Amino acid sequence: MAVDLGASRIRIHVRDEGLVVDEPSLAAVDTRTGDIVAVGSVAARMLGRVPGHIRVERPLASGTVADVDLAQQMLRHMVSRHVLPLRRRKRGVRAVVGVPYGSGPLTRKAAVEALSALGLRRVELVASPVAAAVGCGVETDQAEPVMLVDCGATTTQIAVVAFGDVIAGTVVPVGGDAIERAITEHVLARHGLELTSGGARDICLRLGGADTFPVTGKDVRSGWARNAAVDTSALRTVIGVSLVPVLDGIGAVLRGLSADLVVDLAARGLTMVGGAADIPGIDATIRAATAMPVRVQPDPRGRVVDGLARLIDSKPPKRPVEKAAPSENPAEHSPVAEIEDFASVA
Ligand SMILES: Nc1ncnc2c1ncn2[C@@H]1O[C@H](COP(=O)(O)OP(=O)(O)OP(=O)(O)O)[C@@H](O)[C@H]1O
Ligand SMILES: [Mg+2]
Repeated sequence: MAVDLGASRIRIHVRDEGLVVDEPSLAAVDTRTGDIVAVGSVAARMLGRVPGHIRVERPLASGTVADVDLAQQMLRHMVSRHVLPLRRRKRGVRAVVGVPYGSGPLTRKAAVEALSALGLRRVELVASPVAAAVGCGVETDQAEPVMLVDCGATTTQIAVVAFGDVIAGTVVPVGGDAIERAITEHVLARHGLELTSGGARDICLRLGGADTFPVTGKDVRSGWARNAAVDTSALRTVIGVSLVPVLDGIGAVLRGLSADLVVDLAARGLTMVGGAADIPGIDATIRAATAMPVRVQPDPRGRVVDGLARLIDSKPPKRPVEKAAPSENPAEHSPVAEIEDFASVA
């Protein structure tokens, strides 16, 4: 199985079955009992609409597992429907999971631990930018470098990939969430209107060419629902300002490269993946700032999990170490038989 533990969505691809999980990384917890009452899209519908004793939490943050225990429970709930077919697999299940570029031992350990609840034979770690590149069709033996910008929910990973490895990269703590927060704050400050949970995202995705954009929210003074017409160019400015750290990050990565690489990359351009790459105008902003061609990959949100799935397909399973030999129910025997770096995680 290939696993992308995104801060906003979890995507799990199982060989021969395809994408079996593509759900918001959310768990609704009853704080009186500590029980999980809902996960994924059901928990997402609860956001802002549940009584005080239920908290909707995000166990993953910035590409890392922030709450291992909750993440384990959430993953177990999400794959429960698929566990039976997985358990029938004779040699146990191997998982390949993406971890952020440059992540340290604690982050990597947390990713493995979160998955250990699924009863896997083995967990292998791959740097997400490498997976993203493969998901964009780059071969792991390709010598020509590609520059990837994965603009997710909480982070943007910027990396130059060649020969299936990261040559240079950085992680910026800005993604779609920060952009949505900035929009929410702008509408509140300018119009006295509190947007709904999905309001800012809706603005991001539908921002067109018209001069104003109609929004509905809660009037903070009266408490009533009210409409407002928000100036489109002001929204674009807000988005542009949120992106400054990303532009700085791209500059920092380029400055650290040789002139040969920079000239190569300038000709080839950079490729954008991740959900926030779909925000209209984001590519134009980066193009204007870097003078490089910028291409948003089709279905940008699925590139990492697709790449992981391709990597797992291209690499035959190793012989199982330990006695993880065929058991009718691997889940009960070996939580994680072995941790191995699939590609180097620099
Ligand atoms: N149709 C959409 N539905 C949901 N989010 C969208 C959509 N289009 C764009 N987005 C943006 O994509 C972001 C999520 O992107 P993505 O799914 O790549 O994040 P992630 O992989 O979960 O997060 P990260 O990589 O930071 O861990 C959201 O914050 C949102 O701003
Ligand atoms: Mg991601």
